[in-house]
Amino acid sequence: HNHIGHATVEKVKSAIAAGDTHARMPVYETLAAYRAKGGYETLTALRDGGDWEAVQETILASGLRGLGGAGFPSGRKWGFVRANPGPRYLAVNGDEGEPGTFKDRVYLERHPHVFLEGMLIAAWAVEAGRAFVYMRDEYPGILAMLRREIAALEAARIVPEGYIDLRRGAGAYICGEESAMIESIEGKRGIPRHRPPYVAQVGIFDRPTLVHNVETLYWVAKVCREGPEILSGIEKNGRKGLRSYSVSGRVRQPGVHLLPAGSTIRDVIEAAGGMLDGHTLKAYQPGGPSSGLLPATMDDVPLDFDTLQPHGSFIGSAAVVVLSHQDSAREAAMNMLRFFEDESCGQCTPCRVGCEKAVKLMSADHWDTGLLEELSQAMVDASICGLGQAAPNPIRMVMKHFPDEI
Ligand code: NAI
Ligand code: SF4
Repeated sequence: HNHIGHATVEKVKSAIAAGDTHARMPVYETLAAYRAKGGYETLTALRDGGDWEAVQETILASGLRGLGGAGFPSGRKWGFVRANPGPRYLAVNGDEGEPGTFKDRVYLERHPHVFLEGMLIAAWAVEAGRAFVYMRDEYPGILAMLRREIAALEAARIVPEGYIDLRRGAGAYICGEESAMIESIEGKRGIPRHRPPYVAQVGIFDRPTLVHNVETLYWVAKVCREGPEILSGIEKNGRKGLRSYSVSGRVRQPGVHLLPAGSTIRDVIEAAGGMLDGHTLKAYQPGGPSSGLLPATMDDVPLDFDTLQPHGSFIGSAAVVVLSHQDSAREAAMNMLRFFEDESCGQCTPCRVGCEKAVKLMSADHWDTGLLEELSQAMVDASICGLGQAAPNPIRMVMKHFPDEI
């Protein structure tokens, strides 16, 4: 209420009263259109006697990695899940909550059946007895469209009735963390579990569970149909594959830009139409707020998995936010920490209290850098999940790269 203001609240109320639930149905490729282009033929052929290990080899050869942000080799996950006795489940993480990330939305809004076929191929590969799709409720149009298309798949007998269980998230960022998502699917409050055990061993209702992000499954379908070279054959700056960068900030054409995985921030900005007039690159967030902020001088680093680790960062979900000299790095970092403070699930003290203390310390005119560093280290060392462990990244990067501002 405070954030969006009274006038907006009134507008939303009257829109709801008028029956407008904001569920805009995207213009997408329907089941009939997809099948007319050979859609679901790969799945059918695999179900009619395919070898799951051969498919796993194809996925491994493509170099496909988890595109929710962690970059874990997708084919290896299948092996982990298969190593555990059934019944097994599959869960799709569609809780795209990383600020600046909207690539899954774009893929779903355009080609939902590529994703659904990839999901059913992965489900076939691990012999999943059921597939749960956890979709963020902030995408009401996608939810409505998926309900419609899942019913169409059932009517076409491509999946048995009830096999795909579509679940709505409820707006908590932490429910995108895979074990918190599983708790939420089980009907509990979404808080992360300790690991090990990994969800591949103990997942939904304690059964081995394959968890994949939406975009990862989109590429599973593409690779199975078109071959591993569609990813492994693309090389740039010593990196292989493609990345869907969600680009926002001071660029002319924000949006999802599919580029080689070895692209630098300069390539990403160029694909996004260049900087806005009157703006020059000052800093960028490479992959969500947990990845912090890198300075413009680091404009030759490939924005891929592994390449940003030496700089204390990571590509994550490739949510690139471009800041210019008209922006304050300090304020951007403060905004990120406020977000983490709001979204911390509160389960562990280093994160719950650490985020709150960090916001207070960052509000001072002059940052107490010694204390902030000590606090950051405690959060990294002692938080249960990635939220608390990565929350100090923006603080550390502002202290390192933008000392003049603090
Ligand atoms: P992680 O590296 O711990 O795990 C990645 C995946 O590999 C998980 O499915 C995990 O179960 C599996 N895995 C890892 N080691 C395993 C093992 N030894 N045996 C079996 N399975 C194993 O990373 P995590 O915490 O799952 O994800 C962190 C990333 O999520 C960050 O990079 C961040 O960018 C991203 N993220 C993305 C969001 C989005 O909206 N797309 C939101 C928030 C974070
Ligand atoms: Fe919850 Fe934060 Fe602890 Fe993660 S690190 S379990 S979000 S309190």
